[in-house]
Amino acid sequence: MKKTFLFISVFCLGVFSNAQDPSRFFPSGQLITTGVYYYPEHWDPGQWERDLKNIAAMGFEYTHYAEFAWAQLEPEEGKYTFEWLDRAVELAAKYNLKVIMCTSTATPPVWLVRKHPEILETNENGRSSDHGSRQTVSFSSTFFRQYALKMVEKLAQHYGNDKRIMGWQIDNEPRVFYDYGVDAQQRFRSWLKNRYGTIEALNITWGTAFWSQQYSDFSQINIPIYAQWGMNLNQILDHTRFINEETATFLDEQARTIRKYTIPEQWITTNYIPNYQSGYIGRSRELDFITYTKYMVSGYNRGIGLAGYRIGDPESIAMSNDFFRPFAGIYGVMELQPGQVNWGSVNSQPLPGAVHLWLWHVFAGGSRLACTYRYRAPLYGYEQFHYGIVGPDGVTPTPGGLEYQQFIKEVQLLRQEADPGAGLPQAYIDRKTGILFNVENIWGMEQNKQTTQWNSVGHITKYYKTLKSFGAPVDFIRDSFDFKAYPVIIVPAYQQIDKALVAKWTEYARNGGNLVLTSRTGYKDRDMHLWEARFAEPIYDLIGAEIEFYDLPAPQVPDTVVMDNGKYAWNSWGDILKPRSGTETWAVYSGNFYAGKPAVIFRKLGKGTVTYVGPDSKEGLLERAVLQKLYGVLKIPVEGYPDGVMVEYRDGFGIGVNYSDRDYELSMPQGARILVGSAILKPAGVVVWK
Ligand code: GAL
Repeated sequence: MKKTFLFISVFCLGVFSNAQDPSRFFPSGQLITTGVYYYPEHWDPGQWERDLKNIAAMGFEYTHYAEFAWAQLEPEEGKYTFEWLDRAVELAAKYNLKVIMCTSTATPPVWLVRKHPEILETNENGRSSDHGSRQTVSFSSTFFRQYALKMVEKLAQHYGNDKRIMGWQIDNEPRVFYDYGVDAQQRFRSWLKNRYGTIEALNITWGTAFWSQQYSDFSQINIPIYAQWGMNLNQILDHTRFINEETATFLDEQARTIRKYTIPEQWITTNYIPNYQSGYIGRSRELDFITYTKYMVSGYNRGIGLAGYRIGDPESIAMSNDFFRPFAGIYGVMELQPGQVNWGSVNSQPLPGAVHLWLWHVFAGGSRLACTYRYRAPLYGYEQFHYGIVGPDGVTPTPGGLEYQQFIKEVQLLRQEADPGAGLPQAYIDRKTGILFNVENIWGMEQNKQTTQWNSVGHITKYYKTLKSFGAPVDFIRDSFDFKAYPVIIVPAYQQIDKALVAKWTEYARNGGNLVLTSRTGYKDRDMHLWEARFAEPIYDLIGAEIEFYDLPAPQVPDTVVMDNGKYAWNSWGDILKPRSGTETWAVYSGNFYAGKPAVIFRKLGKGTVTYVGPDSKEGLLERAVLQKLYGVLKIPVEGYPDGVMVEYRDGFGIGVNYSDRDYELSMPQGARILVGSAILKPAGVVVWK
């Protein structure tokens, strides 16, 4: 297993091509390091020392500064004031706290906005945002980029050579801008020109023969109006690519600027919202590793059982861990909810123990960094009522604050027991599974869903959930990865392919890999055109079957698939299959005019196997049954954890977490020594053993 992980981290340096090897920033015996955001500019300077001293006394190892402080750092154009921040850094150091320095590009000062109002994001009706919030300024504004880089350069000159600064966070939760301003239009046109070279090439890819959409010059092209019915699909796809690249390149420009001044001890990252429709995640190649932010209880999720909303979606942290880690081999969590938030639909108290559970779940995924927003609860501003590690009095720990302290103490104990060279249990290694992911498929299918019932990310989650109930370590992987590290690879709804990818899949299976392809895979080429062939024909030789047609029954009359003794409702997509000889049928449709036709098929190919799952079931139970059968056939032993219980291993430790509303007794391996919690996992319970 060690070999596998080694391989991944080496490979991933290739993904972040200009990055440093991130493992050297985090000594392995440290396991994880915990910190907290502090905004000196929000508080009386007379209180800074008290606060930083308390932060250190609670066991935090670093703090996080200047995230939204552009106006305080450059109060007038070209006039920089670092004195206050210097003092805050000094005080942090006095109490042995390192500092994450942030570039405050999410909050430009008013002098800049008033001088160049064109930097504001302009919506499709021509209306601009205005100063008074954050993230109001578009990354497609050339002026904005210039001003931002100037400020970032000053900051990097000032702190790049400072050992008290452990690393850099660029921007805050960077997003895409649907900006219709002059710069954005022009940059979009140049981006297209760069991509296509000639307008003829664009016309072909965009299929502009349809509805008289031909262009004779790039200058005629506008950013698509998303709300306008029937917009050209490729225009939207390319614009989506464009805005994601704008975000990625802006972060890269900042990283390059910072890197000119940094000492090798300092890393560079950003903090993404883990949204699986965002194409910029993992696309900024200058970052050393990436981090995510996570708010589990905000009213949008029901969790498991009646009180589940106070713990959150069990797969949320798991999936972010498994999605972020493979990019650079290591990852961090920059914001993890400390308690009630202010911005949710319902801002409930998390269940006592939930914050502690989330922290351990972050740890379980392999994270090297856990940080929380924020130390003190704000007294003014949009985020009034948001909890911190201490309450509005600035000193009394909140319940979440106490849970952070508990976690930090437990980690200190684990550090004494750490055995980073320790292998992982063989059974865990054997069920390692890759999920092949490309955001372009999500963009493509969401544009062209064919039924309101289809949910591109939801489809992937059904497989993911099953794998977690198996106790399988999962990596979200990319086309460019070496597939050999994974005994099984799931390829869920991979709509847009090319023949090279099919060849790579085929070779993987022939050499002993086990592929699971699912609904909609291979219907289109990378430009999102259907093949001039039968539906998904380029995958027929691989799956050992043809696709006769696909169907989408009406929501009120779902169809059923029958497999072994189980029946599974579906209505969001079904490929009706026609196996070739040598391909087994595992499940058939029932209840419609194609009753009896194959829905799930399986074949051997070379030393490996290929499974194709035609339908997307309503509850994800068909997906579970198929994987259960497959892992059985492959003789890969799996666990059967109930909903909400997950187990992972790292650095010689096993970690079990329980998001469900029921107690669960986890059976401990022989000789296991419990270091944290108990094997009887209560709701929000954690157990860590060695
Ligand atoms: C995050 C954001 C933070 C803070 C937090 C409040 O999404 O990155 O800056 O606003 O929400 O919960």
